[in-house]
Amino acid sequence: MSITPQSEQRVAVLKGLGTYLPPRVVSNEELSGRLETSDEWIRTRTGIRQRHWADQGTATGDLAFEAGARALKAAGVEKVDAVVLATTTPDHPCPATAPAVAARLGQGTVPAFDVSAVCAGFVYATAAASSLIVAGLAERVLVIGAETYSTILNPEDRTTSVIFGDGAGAIVLEAGTAGEPGALLGFDLGSDGEYPDLISIPAGGSRQRSEGTAPDPSAYYFSMQGKQVFAHAVNRMGESSAALLERIGWPTESVDRLVGHQANVRILHSLADLLGVERERAVVNLDRVGNTSAASIPLALADAVNGGAVKPGDRVLMTAFGGGLAWGSTALVWPDVDVV
Ligand code: UT7
Repeated sequence: MSITPQSEQRVAVLKGLGTYLPPRVVSNEELSGRLETSDEWIRTRTGIRQRHWADQGTATGDLAFEAGARALKAAGVEKVDAVVLATTTPDHPCPATAPAVAARLGQGTVPAFDVSAVCAGFVYATAAASSLIVAGLAERVLVIGAETYSTILNPEDRTTSVIFGDGAGAIVLEAGTAGEPGALLGFDLGSDGEYPDLISIPAGGSRQRSEGTAPDPSAYYFSMQGKQVFAHAVNRMGESSAALLERIGWPTESVDRLVGHQANVRILHSLADLLGVERERAVVNLDRVGNTSAASIPLALADAVNGGAVKPGDRVLMTAFGGGLAWGSTALVWPDVDVV
């Protein structure tokens, strides 16, 4: 599915970006102390050096609240017309996490809902929020990607425990026109439901019910077939990015920064090679935060802006891939906005 607005068309424009990382840093060395792994393996196979994990008692909604408050501050606004929250790790299976976050943010009775698209969640949530704006249902929307993967990781599974981190990022979108900096110029979204088992929490939903019927306690934890996922990730993000670039008329060489989902530095380099974007243009912050799933894109974006890698006027391509399988891409010219 794709959406590409015309130049004077009403679109969603990015007005501010906020992020939050829980303070506790978990190093590769700390994990090597209790799992059969090593700093060397984690660094060379993934690029990750550390990740942040929330302390016991801190939930996704708490991280989402902090990032959301910062995004509102960055945009200089107090009120939005809707809150869309992407997460794989909601506070509860029911209800959604977004209404409670919206209430804590002082947003009253605005519509608030969760989007479940795993690591592609932020792009999906941004597309949903943009659609509310384009349809005239909202003038301003707060989009949040927030995760506490530390709560769903199997502590005995070295293949997932070393990869994922907790964190949150949020943006404020406002109605504007496609010609403005910050305008979301298009979306390319897709899914392939032939591979639901490659990334999953098998039990706890209606398929394997939670009342003790799941045969294996590990079925309640997150699991991933990393090797197969790797290939799908590169190909799907590559195809989706290329399709979007063609539709919005950006030659590949005009892309200043590629903000890809931060799963593995080898994936980001393979993606850059496949697209024909220089590897140096691929933003990398997974070395410090790991794979934060739905929070990955805004955290990488904020890191790049704060580090001077993304400047106003730069052409930024964002692309993400995750469980489902699901993927999505969007693009904008970076506006002169605050990052908090
Ligand atoms: O966020 C959604 C999208 N997610 C992704 O895109 C993740 C994509 N996948 C990956 O990033 C990589 O596949 C991983 C980082 C997850 C794994 O890297 P890999 O190079 O594909 O390793 P592998 O799964 O093929 O495993 C190679 C070896 C295996 O040992 P044998 O069978 O060769 O003896 C694993 O058991 O490495 C072993 N291994 C480890 N060794 C030390 C797997 N995890 C670890 C570990 N420490 N943490």
